[in-house]
Amino acid sequence: MPSVICFDVLTLFPSIFEGFLSESVLKGALAAQKIEVRLHNMRDWADDKHATMDDRPFGGGPGMLLKVDRVVPCVEEIQHQQQPGRLLMFTPQGRCFNQRFAEELATEQRIVMLCGRYEGFDERVAEILKPEEVSIGDYILNGGEVAAMVVIETVMRLIRGVLGDEDSNRFDSFSTGNRILDCAHYTRPREYRGFSVPEILLSGNHAEIAQWRNNNSLQRTKEKRPDLLVTASGNSSPKN
Ligand SMILES: C[S@@+](CC[C@H](N)C(=O)[O-])C[C@H]1O[C@@H](n2cnc3c(N)ncnc32)[C@H](O)[C@@H]1O
Repeated sequence: MPSVICFDVLTLFPSIFEGFLSESVLKGALAAQKIEVRLHNMRDWADDKHATMDDRPFGGGPGMLLKVDRVVPCVEEIQHQQQPGRLLMFTPQGRCFNQRFAEELATEQRIVMLCGRYEGFDERVAEILKPEEVSIGDYILNGGEVAAMVVIETVMRLIRGVLGDEDSNRFDSFSTGNRILDCAHYTRPREYRGFSVPEILLSGNHAEIAQWRNNNSLQRTKEKRPDLLVTASGNSSPKN
């Protein structure tokens, strides 16, 4: 796994990322140079007076499309600044992003992300650049910026040294090595409105606590996400 991952984000609205990058774990990861995030305003590649990035679709229909002759040169220039990296283009029609995909991206040194807006991109953007088309779910956002934030945040959690406790993401739901849902967690007070913390967690017996957590993970996966227990062969895949 590389020690620093560089995310290049190509967007029409770089200021959307300001708050996101200046708080909490992300702020720390940037300061510690565990990740680098470079924001590129695609409008800088528009050479006309109005910095036009979009145009009406041929054949008519609603909405505007991002222009191929603006987007392609922009991506090419950014990719050629150093090793091209992995190029992701956000679209609701792409491969669905999940933890496994994030683990795969966490092995990259550079991830270049192309955020759409309006009705999306002229189809030739994908034909020419051959990006990996990525969706964050079966719903429609206004643009790819939120999707880029989802990818940055999910991937950066997997970089060694970003989270205070190295074990934090080992037992997270969906993670390799866990694959099922995380167990229930409790903190003080021990009792609240008649609801108590399970006695075993107060026992100090680490072996029994681990066993309880494993059982609790399996139980809640059966209840909430039974699909996770069914592998391609139809067998259960318990925590390993
Ligand atoms: C309004 S959407 C365009 C949707 C497009 N007309 C369609 O139905 O496939 C504008 C942009 O938002 C982004 N976007 C919207 N929903 C997304 C999703 N579920 N996952 C990733 N990106 C999404 C994409 O970059 C897309 O080009």
